[in-house]
Parts: sequence; C-alpha cells; structure tokens
Amino acid sequence: MPAAAPVWTIVVAAGNGTRFGGEVPKQFLEISGRTVLTWSVNTAASATDGVVVVLPQQHLAGAEQFLEGVTCVAGGDTRSDSVRAGLAAVPQDAAVVVVHDAARPVASAALYGRAIAAIHHGADAATPVVSVVDTIRTVDGQMVDRDKLRAVQTPQAFRASILRRVHESEPEATDDAGLIAQAAGTVVTVAGERWNIKLTEPADLAVIAGLLNEQIQ
Ligand code: CTP
Ligand code: MG
Repeated sequence: MPAAAPVWTIVVAAGNGTRFGGEVPKQFLEISGRTVLTWSVNTAASATDGVVVVLPQQHLAGAEQFLEGVTCVAGGDTRSDSVRAGLAAVPQDAAVVVVHDAARPVASAALYGRAIAAIHHGADAATPVVSVVDTIRTVDGQMVDRDKLRAVQTPQAFRASILRRVHESEPEATDDAGLIAQAAGTVVTVAGERWNIKLTEPADLAVIAGLLNEQIQ
C-alpha cells in the first residue's frame, strides 16, 4: 500500500452516554472552550486526510454548525451500527480507516500515527493497548492474572477493505479489532496512552478537563 493512499477517520459520537447521565450526551459537554467531540475531531483532522463524524440523529443539524470541514452522518442504535453508518460515508479510495471514540478526547496525533504505521507495515488492524494497573478479581472472587490482560483503546486503524468486509454481516462488538481477529485477520497492538481514558462516568470529567487544559497551555 503506498504511504500516500488516503487515511480517513470515523469519529463515533452517536451514543447516549447512559452511564454518564446528564441533559446532553457526554460528547457535547464543553471543556476549555470546545466540546469533547470537537477535541476529538480536531486531533483526527490533524492526523488523517478526512473525517466522518457519526452523530445522534437529533443532534445532526446542531453539531454540523460547529464542525467545519468534516462529513456528518446519523448513527445507529449500537456502536457497531454507528461504525457502519460512518463507513458508508468514507470515500471508496480510502486505503486506511481509523475508528475513534469521540469520548476519548485526549488521544494524541502520535497515537494515530503509531496505529496507521502498523497498517502500512502490513497489519490488517492495529489497536492501542495499555497494561492494567489494578489488581483484578471476578465478581465471584476469582483472582485474575493482570499480566495477561490489556485494556483496549481507540484510535484503532484498519486496512479499509477488511473493515468493510467484516461489517458486511452486520456484527455487534464494542471493538472492531476483535472482529478482524475473529475473521482471521492480522491484528497488532501498539502502545496506547495511559491518559487516553474514555469519558464514561461523571468522575472522569475532572481528570479529562485537567489533561486537556494542560494541552492548551
Ligand atoms: N457510540 C455511537 N453509537 C452508539 C453507541 C456508542 O457512536 N449507538 C459511540 C459513543 O458516542 C462513544 C463511543 O461510541 O463515543 C464509545 O461508547 P461509550 O463510551 O460506551 O458511549 P455511550 O454508548 O454513549 O455510553 P453508555 O454506554 O454509557 O451509554
Ligand atoms: Mg456504550
């Protein structure tokens, strides 16, 4: 694959943020003058050639106004439905597609670079992972060896043709790299970022706000 072949990002932002709660979905909360979604989109736009943003149908018109130069489409009931909606709007000549959670606004352009480079080096999928720092036990009290565990992050990068193919059968997964692995594709891991956390619960907000504030200083 030529290194110059277009790389597109799908930023999935069509969730309800049920665990976070609140009046608007978490990705529309403002931190240091821009929404969580805009923070995510800005990094995607700096790291790749084009961006598709997948939004809740009812927020499509409102969000398009503050997102310039990106393609906006409506998402679906599940994250996988939303990825498919985004994929349908990615130009056919894209060679690499990156999928990123809008709820991870701290992911760096360097992290995109590592994931994309792995595809250029021949992988079908590349996923950032970090080690698990907590001691882990199951709900029924079994201890789990954390050295065998990795937490999976986004941005995940894919050879575009393979991502399109695995989504043809409309599978459900919170993680697209897992779908590629099930289809016997080559999935590699790249070093994730300790602070690339997903805005999930209200307590995450102060941490993410602190991290983003540092970036603008
Ligand atoms: N997402 C999406 N479409 C869906 C569900 C999720 O685009 N139908 C997006 C979210 O907007 C988010 C990312 O997928 O950026 C990761 O999902 P998650 O953090 O679970 O967000 P929500 O599903 O919105 O939150 P919750 O699970 O608490 O409802
Ligand atoms: Mg969810």
